[in-house]
Amino acid sequence: MNQVIEALEQRRSCRSYTDQPVDPKKLEQIVEAGLWAASGMGRQGTRLVVVTNPDDVAALSRMNAQIMGSTNDPFYGARAVIVVLTNPENPTCVEDGALVMGNLMNAAHALGVASCWIHRAKEEFESDEGKALLAKWSVEGTWRGVGHCILGYAAEGGEQAGAERKPGRVTYVK
Ligand SMILES: Cc1cc2nc3c(=O)[nH]c(=O)nc-3n(C[C@H](O)[C@H](O)[C@H](O)COP(=O)(O)O)c2cc1C
Repeated sequence: MNQVIEALEQRRSCRSYTDQPVDPKKLEQIVEAGLWAASGMGRQGTRLVVVTNPDDVAALSRMNAQIMGSTNDPFYGARAVIVVLTNPENPTCVEDGALVMGNLMNAAHALGVASCWIHRAKEEFESDEGKALLAKWSVEGTWRGVGHCILGYAAEGGEQAGAERKPGRVTYVK
């Protein structure tokens, strides 16, 4: 089978990570893949914040858990988080951000790095605390959160087998 298709089939969400930090060179390559995502009208209106500072990862995790009403770590111990933000003025802002997220996760898999999309970035960066974090990171302007791509190395059992693909989801019109 074609290598790209095989890789897409084998990527899984990881929900348990080792303590090993993500190789910075791999992190850069993953970020680069995100920047190459297609965007509506080629606007490139997304912004990526690569968070590896343990205090800031912990702050994001806490805020995310609060939104869910949980006390568990929604980042599952991942050591790196790429926050994908998007310019809310663009009509394709959410689609553009989602495509960046897809590129990040697939690139991570291709490089042997485990990942998962963690949601609730919208709520996080609508809050005063989220806005204060953006200011602290010198991310100026108005941004809508799309997702967090958490990254790390899979602990045992961190990745479950993929579910069977649901049938009846494709119509070929010839
Ligand atoms: C929009 C979106 C939001 C998601 N949010 C979360 C989340 O908050 N927490 C989580 O553990 N997984 C989250 N996921 C991961 C999905 O649960 C996962 O992709 C799905 O179960 C399929 O598993 P797979 O990625 O291994 O194929 C999200 C995925 C998407 C696309």
